[in-house]
Amino acid sequence: MKIAILGLGAVGKGVTEMVASKDLGISITGIADSKSGCIDSSGLNTKSILVKKQKKGFCGDKALSAEDVIKKADYDVLVEVTPTNATTGEPGLSYIRQALKRKKHVVTSNKGPLALAYKELQTLAKKNGVALRFEATVGGAIPIFHTLEHGLAGNEILAIFGVLNGTCNYILTRMADEGLTYEQALLEAREMGYAEADPTYDVQGIDAAIKLVILANTIWGDGVKLDDVNRTGIDLLTPDALKLAEEEDCTIRLIAEAIPKKKLLRVAPRIIEKSHPLVVEGTLNAITIETDMAKEITLIGKGAGSIETASAIIGDLLYIRDRYVERA
Ligand SMILES: NC(=O)c1ccc[n+]([C@@H]2O[C@H](COP(=O)([O-])OP(=O)(O)OC[C@H]3O[C@@H](n4cnc5c(N)ncnc54)[C@H](OP(=O)(O)O)[C@@H]3O)[C@@H](O)[C@H]2O)c1
Repeated sequence: MKIAILGLGAVGKGVTEMVASKDLGISITGIADSKSGCIDSSGLNTKSILVKKQKKGFCGDKALSAEDVIKKADYDVLVEVTPTNATTGEPGLSYIRQALKRKKHVVTSNKGPLALAYKELQTLAKKNGVALRFEATVGGAIPIFHTLEHGLAGNEILAIFGVLNGTCNYILTRMADEGLTYEQALLEAREMGYAEADPTYDVQGIDAAIKLVILANTIWGDGVKLDDVNRTGIDLLTPDALKLAEEEDCTIRLIAEAIPKKKLLRVAPRIIEKSHPLVVEGTLNAITIETDMAKEITLIGKGAGSIETASAIIGDLLYIRDRYVERA
C-alpha cells in the first residue's frame, strides 16, 4: 500500500519513522510540509528526507507544494497531519476534500476538519467509495473509535465521559498534589512542553469540546457543533476548590460528557471520587463508554506524543489496507 503524508511535524515524523522501521507493507510515495514537497512513486528515501528536514527546516523540493503531492503523487491513502484550526479547518479541510475527490482514502489526526465538516466529509468519502478515518483526533494513542466500532459492535452507546486534554489534566494534578495555584501549574506545564505559549484552547476547554463533538457526531450522528457544547474551563479554579474536594476524598478533573437521552453535551471541571477510573494522573487521557450490554468500559492511555499518535494513525492505515486496498 502506498501513502502520502502532509505535515512533517511531531506526528508526521512519528508516522514516517514507524512506517520505515516496521515491516508493514507500506511505502511512502509523497511527503510535504508547509514549504516543500517530494514525490517518488517507487518509494521515498525517508531517512534522507528526515535528515534534510532537521538540518534545513524543509523536507523536499521547494517547487513542489502539498497540493502538488495531493494531485500528482501515486498513493492509496493520504495521511493528513497538518495543524488544527478549529475556526476554518484549513489547510487540512481543503486537502482532505481534494484527496477524497481523487478517490483516495484519508487518515487524519487533525481535529479541525472533523469538528467543522464531519457529515460533508463522510458523505464525500462514501460517494467516492473511499474511507475517512481519524482515530488519532481523540485520545491520542487510545483506540476509542476502533473500540466503539468493533469491540463494542452491537452495543447501544448510552453515554461517554472523558478526560480528553492532557494539559488540563497535568495542571489539575499538580494543583492537587503540590497545592500550586493555577498560574504556577500552568507555568510548569509550559516549562515541561505540555502547554502551548497560548494555552487558551486547552485551559478553556475548547480542545476537549472539539474532541467531544467528534465523538458525538461519530457515535450518534447528531450533527452537533462546537457551539452546542456547554463549556467551562479550568482557568478560574482555585487551590481552595481542590482542597475542599480533597477533604471528601475527591479531586477535580476536566470532564467532557455526552449523554444523548439527557440532551447533555458538556465540558466542565467536576468533583470526582479519587477511586474513579477517570481520575488519571499527569498528561494521561481516559475515556469511559457506557453501553447497554457491556455496561462501563474505561480506556486509559497517552493522549499525545509523536510515536503514540503514530500508533493510532498506523492502526487506521492497516484497517484500510485490510478492508479496501488488498481487495482492490
Ligand atoms: N502532537 C500530538 O501529540 C498530536 C496528537 C493528536 C493529534 N495531533 C494533531 O495532529 C496534527 C499535527 O500535529 P503535530 O504536533 O505534528 O503538529 P506540528 O508539529 O506543528 O506539525 C505540523 C506540520 O504541518 C506542516 N504544515 C503547516 N501548514 C501546512 C500547509 N499549509 N501545508 C502542508 N503542511 C503544512 C508543518 O510544516 P513546517 O514543518 O514547514 O512548519 C509541520 O510539518 C495537528 O492537527 C494536531 O492537532 C497532534
